[in-house]
Amino acid sequence: MIILAIDTSCDDTCITILEVGSRKLELRSNIVSSQVKIHAKYGGVYPTLAKREHQRNLVPILKKALVESRLLNSKLKIQNEKLQFEIKNLEKILEREKYLFINLKKFLKKCEKPKIDASTSSASTLSDNRRVDLITVTVGPGLEPCLWTGVNFAKALSYFWNLPIIPINHIEAHIFANFVGSNSKFKIQNSKFLFPAICLVVSGGHTQLILMKDFGQYKILGETRDDAAGECLDKCARILGLGYPGGPAIEKQAEKFKVYGLRSKVRLPRPMIHQKNFDFSFSGLKTAVLYDFKNRPPKIRQSREYIREMAAEVQQAIVDVLISKTLKAAKEYRARSIILGGGVAANNELRKQLKVQSLKFKVKFLVPPKIFCTDNAAMVAIAGYFNYLKGKIKNWENIKVNANLKI
Ligand code: KG4
Ligand code: ZN
Repeated sequence: MIILAIDTSCDDTCITILEVGSRKLELRSNIVSSQVKIHAKYGGVYPTLAKREHQRNLVPILKKALVESRLLNSKLKIQNEKLQFEIKNLEKILEREKYLFINLKKFLKKCEKPKIDASTSSASTLSDNRRVDLITVTVGPGLEPCLWTGVNFAKALSYFWNLPIIPINHIEAHIFANFVGSNSKFKIQNSKFLFPAICLVVSGGHTQLILMKDFGQYKILGETRDDAAGECLDKCARILGLGYPGGPAIEKQAEKFKVYGLRSKVRLPRPMIHQKNFDFSFSGLKTAVLYDFKNRPPKIRQSREYIREMAAEVQQAIVDVLISKTLKAAKEYRARSIILGGGVAANNELRKQLKVQSLKFKVKFLVPPKIFCTDNAAMVAIAGYFNYLKGKIKNWENIKVNANLKI
C-alpha cells in the first residue's frame, strides 16, 4: 500500500510518499518546501502569500516525490472526450486555485496514475494481500486559505486518479510524528504500555495539553488562552531583531549566553504556572519582553549581551511553564508516558529538560527527531495509515477544511 500525504496548513508545502509493507513503514519520499525566506521580511506568515506559494509548489513537489519514490509514470495521455470531461471537472474543483489548476492540468495530461513498480510490489502488499492506494491530507487546524489549497489539490488528485481520501487533523499528526520511522508499525502495534499518555503539542499556532487514552482517543485538558508558545518566541525574536522564525533564532542566542556560563539578571514572569488548570497564556510574556526592551538605553538593548540574556530568559520562562503544567497533568492522570510534538518540540532545552523531569517522574518520554517536529507530511501519512486501519476513508466530495478543528 502506498500513501500520498499532503500538508499545507501553514507556510511549508509538504508532500510525503509512505510505503506500508507487511512489517515496516518506509518513507519513499519526504519533501518540505519552506517559505521562510518569503515570510521573513514580514516577521511572520502572510496567509495570502503562503497560499500563492503552495499553488506554485505543489505540482513540482508532487513530481519530485513521485520521481524519488520511483512512481512517476510519464506517458503522453491521448486527448479524448473523457479526458476533456475530467479536466473540466478538475477546473470546477480548483476554481479557487487558478494557478494550481494550470499547473496540475499540464502535469496530469502527461502523467498516468502512479503505479507501484514490480521491484516494490511484494513489499507493498498488506497482510490480507490487498493493495490500496490512498491520499491523506491535513484539513485543519491551520491557516484557512493555505489549508484549502492542499485540500483542493488532494480532492483533484482523488477525483482524477480515483483514489480514496482520509482527512487528517494537524494536531493529531504532530502526535503521530512520534511514530515516524522504519519501526513505526511495531511501535503502534505495541503501544499499549504508553497509555494513558499526556501529549504536549507546542507549535506556532497551538499549545495544548491532551490526555490520550489510546490512539484516536483524545481529550484536551488545557490550551493557550492567547498566543501559542511558538508565536510568543516568534514575536519576542522580532522585538529583539532576530528575524523569523523566532524559535530557532532565540535558541541560538540562548545557547551563546550559556556558553559564557552567565546567570540571567533579567527576570521574566512564568504566566499561570501556579494556577491549578492546564491552560497557558504567553501574550503577557511577550509584553514583558517588549517593556524591558523599551526601557533599556539603546546602547544596552542593542548589545549582544542583552539580546543573548533576554533570549535565554524568555526560552527558559516558556520551558518552565510547559514542563510544570505537563508534569502536573501527568501526575493527576497517572500517565504512563509524556508525548511531545510540534515545531517548538525541536527546541533542545525543552527536549532535554522535559526528558529529565519525565524520567525523574518515572514516565516514558517520547519526542520525534527534530525534522519531524516542525511541519511535514510524514506525520500526516502515519496518522493517515492509522485512520485507514480505523476505516475513516472518505469520498473527495465530502472533504472540507476546518481552520479551527479540535482534536
Ligand atoms: O509545527 P510548526 O512547524 O508549525 C505550526 O503548526 O505552527 O511550528 C512552528 C513554530 C514556530 O513558531 C517556530 O518558531 C517554532 O515552531 N520552532 C521552534 C524551534 N524550531 C521551530 N521553537 C523553539 N526552538 C526551536 N528549535
Ligand atoms: Zn504544525
